Amino acid sequence: MLGIILLGPPGAGKGTQAKKIAVEFSIPQISTGDMLREAVKNGTEMGKKAKAFMDAGGLVPDEVVIGIVKDRLQAADCAKGFILDGFPRTIPQAEALDRVTKDLKKEVRTVLSLEVDEKELMERLCGRRTCTGCGAMYHVTFNRPKADGKCDKCGTSLIQRDDDKEDTIKARLVNYKKMTEPLLQYYKGTGKIRTVMATGDIGAIYANIAKLLR
Ligand code: AP5
Ligand code: MG
Ligand code: ZN
Repeated sequence: MLGIILLGPPGAGKGTQAKKIAVEFSIPQISTGDMLREAVKNGTEMGKKAKAFMDAGGLVPDEVVIGIVKDRLQAADCAKGFILDGFPRTIPQAEALDRVTKDLKKEVRTVLSLEVDEKELMERLCGRRTCTGCGAMYHVTFNRPKADGKCDKCGTSLIQRDDDKEDTIKARLVNYKKMTEPLLQYYKGTGKIRTVMATGDIGAIYANIAKLLR
């Protein structure tokens, strides 16, 4: 069972690296952020509840995200493993995940902690563009699409995420420090944590990750 948690601040490259891991190891990327944005787009009850928290750069209540992940881990495609991208993000979420994996007879094997300088995070998030068709991620400077504003993979238009505005990014970084960084300590005790320097070439970072996972 290749259960992986990707830990790291907003803009660390969790989504970028999760997509690469998913392809090579044939396990699904479970991004709570993507699932919440989908719920907002579809106007579901959960989406309506989550939107205000997300727009403010805050965290959606634990019980909401724990429910989403618990359901998702039971899907057939998680039989061989899973990549949790953006979950857990609080100590209660980590404790809930321990209970859920135990109940479902699944296991987190590795916690990858992606480390990037804070000043680079702001630059990355301000310039990020996302494909509305397939979810691929680009950057106006660091990871440019071949044609401006269009996805290389599917040709769909690229958009800027609602929460990628300077003030909201600042709030997300503050909340990361306060609520999520304590998880590094939580997982240190388990012996599962691996630190990955996540600055520099995207492919080189992935090569290090893949080596750790193989
Ligand atoms: P979420 O969608 O998880 O956002 P996040 O944690 O802020 O992280 P990001 O997706 O912004 O960054 P990333 O690490 O994926 O970086 P990426 O690969 O895109 O959550 C959004 C919101 O949902 C939260 O604020 C919260 O409200 C809510 N939420 C979600 N999960 C929750 C939970 N568990 N509990 C409560 N609330 C929750 O890369 C960023 C950019 O950098 C891209 O442009 C990319 O091309 C570029 N890039 C990547 N790698 C490199 C590199 N090596 N060099 C240069 N550029 C790079
Ligand atoms: Mg992401
Ligand atoms: Zn696309």
